[in-house]
Amino acid sequence: MSGRKTIQDFLSSNKVDIAKLLTLALEKTKEDLYKNLSYNLTKKELEKLKLLIYKREQGIPFAYLSGSQGFYHLDFKVSSATLIPRPETELLIDIAIDLFKPNQLIDVLDLGTGSGVIAITLADKCPSWRISATDKSIDALKIAKKNTTKDINFCHSSWFDELTGKTFDLIVTNPPYLAENDSHLESLKYEPIEAMVSGKDGLDDIREIIQNAPKHLNQGGYLLLEHSDRHQKEVVELLKLSFVNILTYQDLNGLDRAILAQYL
Ligand SMILES: C[S@@+](CC[C@H](N)C(=O)[O-])C[C@H]1O[C@@H](n2cnc3c(N)ncnc32)[C@H](O)[C@@H]1O
Repeated sequence: MSGRKTIQDFLSSNKVDIAKLLTLALEKTKEDLYKNLSYNLTKKELEKLKLLIYKREQGIPFAYLSGSQGFYHLDFKVSSATLIPRPETELLIDIAIDLFKPNQLIDVLDLGTGSGVIAITLADKCPSWRISATDKSIDALKIAKKNTTKDINFCHSSWFDELTGKTFDLIVTNPPYLAENDSHLESLKYEPIEAMVSGKDGLDDIREIIQNAPKHLNQGGYLLLEHSDRHQKEVVELLKLSFVNILTYQDLNGLDRAILAQYL
C-alpha cells in the first residue's frame, strides 16, 4: 500500500469496507470521497486510516469502529457492551406497530433492550405508548439511555426480577438464543457473549421469559419474541402451555424468526 496515498488509491485496494473506513478517517461523506478522488491523505489521516484498516482486518465489525448502526428509520450508538442491531429484528417493530394504534394508551416492555433499538424505535413511531425497557447489563443500559430522546422507563433487571406487580399490554424481546457451542460464535467474537448465548440448547432465556410473562401481561396482552430459525417448533410448544392465538413469522431471508402469542 506504500505510495498509494490518494482516496482513489485506497478505493481501488479492495480492503474490507474501505469506503466506509475512509469516511471515518477523513470525516467525510461517501459523496465527498467520490468528488475528491485525487485528494492526497495527510500523514495524520493516513495513520488513522491504517489503524482502522488493521482493526477491520482483525474482524472488528465496522459498527464498533464507527460507534453507530442504523436500525429501522433511526441511527443508534453501539459499543462492545451492546449487540449490533440486526435488520432481522426490524420484523418485531413491523409486527408490534400492527397490533395497536400509535395513539393508543398502552404499556409496552422491551426485555433485554441492549442499545435500546426496539424500545426507542417503538417510542418514536408510537408516541402514546408507555414504554419500559430492561437489561441485565448496566453498560448496555447506559448506551440505550444515550440513544433515547424519548421518555422511556429504563430498568436494570434480569428479565422480570425487578418488575414485580407490573403488567403490560405487549412484551417484546430479542433475547439471547444461540446454543453455547453454536458454530456462528467464532465470527461473532467481538459482540458480548451474554447478549447471544443462552445455555446448552440456546433456549434457557426464552424458557424463563415464556414461563414468567403471564404474570406480567394484562388480559389479552401479547408476547412477541425473536428466536433462532432452528427453534420455532420448540418455542411454539412452550407457548402453547399458557398462550393462545400463536402466530409465526419469517424474516426477509425466509427464515423462521419471530412468534407472537396472546395471553387471555
Ligand atoms: C440479542 S441481544 C438484543 C439487544 C437488542 N434488543 C437488539 O435487538 O439489538 C439480548 C440482550 O439481552 C440482554 N440480556 C441477557 N440476559 C439477560 C437477562 N437475564 N435479563 C435481562 N437482559 C438480559 C443482553 O445484555 C442483551 O442486551
